[in-house]
Amino acid sequence: MLPVEIIRKKRDGKKLTKDEISLFINGYLNGTIPDYQMSAFLMAIYFQGMDFEETICLTEIMLNSGHVVDLSDISGIKVDKHSTGGVGDKVSLILAPIVASAGVPVPMISGRGLGHTGGTLDKLESIPGFKTNLSIEEYKKVISEIGVVMIGQTSEIAPADKKIYALRDVTATVESIPLISASIMSKKLAEGIDALVLDVKTGQGAFMSEYEKSLQLAQTLFTIGKNFGKKVIAFITDMNQPLGYAVGNWLEVVESVQCLRGLNVPDLMHLTYVLAGAMIMLGGKANSIEEGMKIAQKVVLSGEAYEKFIKLVEKQGGDVSYIENLEKYPLPKHSIEVKSIFDGYVYEIDALEVGIVSVMLGAGRTKVDDVIDPKAGIVLRKKVGDKVEAGEPLAIFYTDKDDVIKIAKERLSKAFKIKPEKPELPKLIKTIID
Ligand code: URA
Repeated sequence: MLPVEIIRKKRDGKKLTKDEISLFINGYLNGTIPDYQMSAFLMAIYFQGMDFEETICLTEIMLNSGHVVDLSDISGIKVDKHSTGGVGDKVSLILAPIVASAGVPVPMISGRGLGHTGGTLDKLESIPGFKTNLSIEEYKKVISEIGVVMIGQTSEIAPADKKIYALRDVTATVESIPLISASIMSKKLAEGIDALVLDVKTGQGAFMSEYEKSLQLAQTLFTIGKNFGKKVIAFITDMNQPLGYAVGNWLEVVESVQCLRGLNVPDLMHLTYVLAGAMIMLGGKANSIEEGMKIAQKVVLSGEAYEKFIKLVEKQGGDVSYIENLEKYPLPKHSIEVKSIFDGYVYEIDALEVGIVSVMLGAGRTKVDDVIDPKAGIVLRKKVGDKVEAGEPLAIFYTDKDDVIKIAKERLSKAFKIKPEKPELPKLIKTIID
């Protein structure tokens, strides 16, 4: 079949065979199918969708477009976590050393931030010297030595996804459940994992803001994982307000380190313990999520998880003196408070707005090659449900840029809705699929 016939078939809503999908994906990767035909193909999938069988074929072809890491010589059940991304979501930084301290190996390949959501790689790279571009050999060495490793996608892992994702980004074809699912799962399945915990965000700061869509995504990701013989648990969690207090790369490292040293940031640590508990259970070290949560809390209290994080930073070339002495980090030029003009309760904090303002301050990128400022970002002083008096700070923001201060102040101030009555607190964990 010619590429144009395959495009037409999908455009007309017909089901594609594995060979047809393979011809398209592999043809695009080896350069025989040009960008314009791939763009039309992606748009046809965007409008017509793919059924589950087609989605599985797409995932498998993308997974096998590169190296599938074999970690079978490392003992234990290897478990990773994937989040669909949110504002202030620094859970991976806290959870990976916790789960590794509980004796479950954690091989983690993460992404960069794009748009209003942050990325684990940018957070890690804000630690001076920290290297995320390890080769597959180095990746295997670090996990075998300390039980945890955190790197970025290499050109060897699912290269078809890398090339297609870049095109989806500029052709408005990102928001398609089969395309997102195959993209995420091809990378996760290539890491060498045995089990996976999925954190699918829902709400205004999430990639999928509607609950029904988040549920559909979670079910598709879950079922793909199961089809590939992996143990999987998926959670749908709230992303209407930022997670924790800090938004911005180094600021999030600071909050994560404080939590690893025992600080309880309620929403952040509750979610971290639930996801860690699920990973510890899938890793065979607990009989239930609750038992896994208790183990997770124990390794934080004993200091083992913090020590594991220090080891991870050391192994991946980071300067641990910045972790041991957080004040050593350079300060941004401006630190500006945003104050409440009303008395009342914080009713809502628009996570999307907070994410967008953090990008304006320099903490994120709007184009893949934008350079970020690791010091930039926002620290909330109040969360949903907190009482506030007029004149009290709602947030403080940090930036080196002079020209964004006025607009950042206005937009952040509007992101907080203050009302006289106390709101019902949002339910953080909405659904579990297991
Ligand atoms: N994250 C991914 O890795 N792929 C997508 O398509 C969307 C989010």
